[in-house]
Amino acid sequence: MNILLTGGTGYIGSHAAIALKEAGHNIVIQDNFSNSSPLVLNRLALILGEEVPFIEGDIRNTNLVKAILQEFSVDAVMHFAGLKSVGESVLEPLKYYENNVLGSLSLLRAMKESNVKKIVFSSSATVYGIPRYLPINEAHPLKPVNPYGRTKLQVEQILEDEAECDALLKVVNLRYFNPVGAHKSGLIGEEPRGMPNNLMPFIARVAGGKLKELHIYGDDYDTFDGTGVRDYIHVMDLAEGHVAALNYLPHSSGFETFNLGTGDGCSVLQMIEVYRKASGREIPFRIVGRRQGDISSCYAAPNKANQILLWSAKLSLFEMCMSSWSFQEQLVN
Ligand code: NAD
Ligand code: WQD
Repeated sequence: MNILLTGGTGYIGSHAAIALKEAGHNIVIQDNFSNSSPLVLNRLALILGEEVPFIEGDIRNTNLVKAILQEFSVDAVMHFAGLKSVGESVLEPLKYYENNVLGSLSLLRAMKESNVKKIVFSSSATVYGIPRYLPINEAHPLKPVNPYGRTKLQVEQILEDEAECDALLKVVNLRYFNPVGAHKSGLIGEEPRGMPNNLMPFIARVAGGKLKELHIYGDDYDTFDGTGVRDYIHVMDLAEGHVAALNYLPHSSGFETFNLGTGDGCSVLQMIEVYRKASGREIPFRIVGRRQGDISSCYAAPNKANQILLWSAKLSLFEMCMSSWSFQEQLVN
């Protein structure tokens, strides 16, 4: 199939690009580089042995998206483009609604006018809000607790409404848990601008000597070692989940949601220990107060994706840390 990846030079989109090419699909990427670099395109070309067709631009430019859909005879869209910082979304909610919600509306309008009827959406476990039970399945109530999460839920609802009225539209809505790690080449990975907010990129910078120590946000949670527990999933497993979603799209009844996670919880202290072993570096840390808005534990019930998409996460925590470290090392050198 011919696939458009919006936000395809970003962290998850660039890894999905590799999995899609390896599965035999043709891809084209559109990105406005608001949170990525053109260098990713060189890296993808090195990994894939060929240039990836790329158009620079914003998905809010509906005419541009239409032109891409038509020029590349796009069969399906993978919609990664979006802003994703929880903290920034609290400070600048309008920016998040404008980019994530208006961006998705523009994309859907372009798809409608170009008769493109298949889309995979990058949603997030953040739409569940504070877990009422664990593991979280797709039927868990939806109550996001920050503007970022609400933009994701709003786009889900728009997609669901659109699929309801257009019997030909097929939507697979993927709720990612905590994607981490990098492609095995070490050439692409997660490199946040400025100070990292998320655990794994922070640990990577401490291991690489770029930051002095990790602050652990609380060791008094109701977990086995007191630190927060999450469902970390290797970004290449996540990428394979997109290939599985694409294979499933024609069979989708309209709008269908799947959790993409491992089903296993890992604590902050466990992650530090595995990263230490994988990198051979010490990870100095200090326990500080809880981070506002944090939850104790969150992990997926991935059974629906396992059974219906015929996909499951295969790569271990050690492989997540090893690949993150390979990427970090080539940044250091
Ligand atoms: P990322 O920031 O690395 O990638 C997003 C890409 O989209 C960037 O390259 C950015 O430049 C581009 N982009 C943003 N707005 C755009 C616009 N209006 N027009 C064109 N391009 C635009 O983020 P990521 O981690 O790769 O996340 C991809 C998607 O997955 C996002 O929608 C995010 O909300 C979702 N998600 C991410 C995580 C995570 O922890 N990384 C978890 C759950 C869901
Ligand atoms: C994981 C654990 C922290 C940093 C966020 C978003 C969510 C989703 C994924 C997109 C927690 C602890 C972290 C640090 C720490 N993104 N931690 N020191 O909070 O599960 O989810 O990213 O959809 O929307 O909210 O991930 O990596 O920030 O935190 O102790 O410097 O690590 O308290 O227990 P989180 P995270």
